[in-house]
Amino acid sequence: MAAAKRSLTAPVQELVERAIEELMASLPDPDQLSPEEQRGIIARYTAVLEGNFIYWMTAAYLAVGSDEAHAIIEDNLREEVRDNHPGMLRRFAIAARAVPTETDALAVYRNLEAVRRFVGELSAVKTVLMMAFFEGFITRFMPYLADLAARRGSAEQEYTDVHGVVDVVHTEGLFRALEAEIRLGPEAPEPARLLTGMEMLRTLIEAVVHPHVATAAPVEHATDAVDPLVIQEAA
Ligand SMILES: [Fe+2]
Repeated sequence: MAAAKRSLTAPVQELVERAIEELMASLPDPDQLSPEEQRGIIARYTAVLEGNFIYWMTAAYLAVGSDEAHAIIEDNLREEVRDNHPGMLRRFAIAARAVPTETDALAVYRNLEAVRRFVGELSAVKTVLMMAFFEGFITRFMPYLADLAARRGSAEQEYTDVHGVVDVVHTEGLFRALEAEIRLGPEAPEPARLLTGMEMLRTLIEAVVHPHVATAAPVEHATDAVDPLVIQEAA
């Protein structure tokens, strides 16, 4: 059983890395984006990250059971809070003239709400896996985001510089946390069943980076989460 659990982390890590690769390959060519589309990507990224990253990392902290995972995630949270990463991101958005508007918030609303509901389940392995995917994506995405900001005349790159480096270390840490949590679990589950949170977050990031997704009808995904807007309309 121990061997089966140990061997689970590697295939899961491969699935996460493949998802990140696919997301990166799907990014629109910045040359083909209008200034408004460039602004929209920065603004939606800010709308999703600024107020939710620490909250979701805190959920991972609350969900995990092993000392090792707690220590790794606590280090991550301390750095976020101590170095004021939300403030860093806000300065980045202001300098790029891409502060999120109501339209930007609404473009990601449903997919963001789905991730929030998932995170509320406090599933240790799935949440840590989702955050490992998040950190991994963020690291890879930083040069693209910095390029969009530069195209909008911004010279502010503290956020993108810090996260291109820091998150490589964080991603590795989260995979160690994942392994610790899998070892702690009662049985080794199928890799595919662990990916729920990651898939929801991936759908959310697609709404961030693709102007056509962000402006089209909200993306539906494999969740039976109740939509509060639909309830209001039906009431
Ligand atoms: Fe951060």
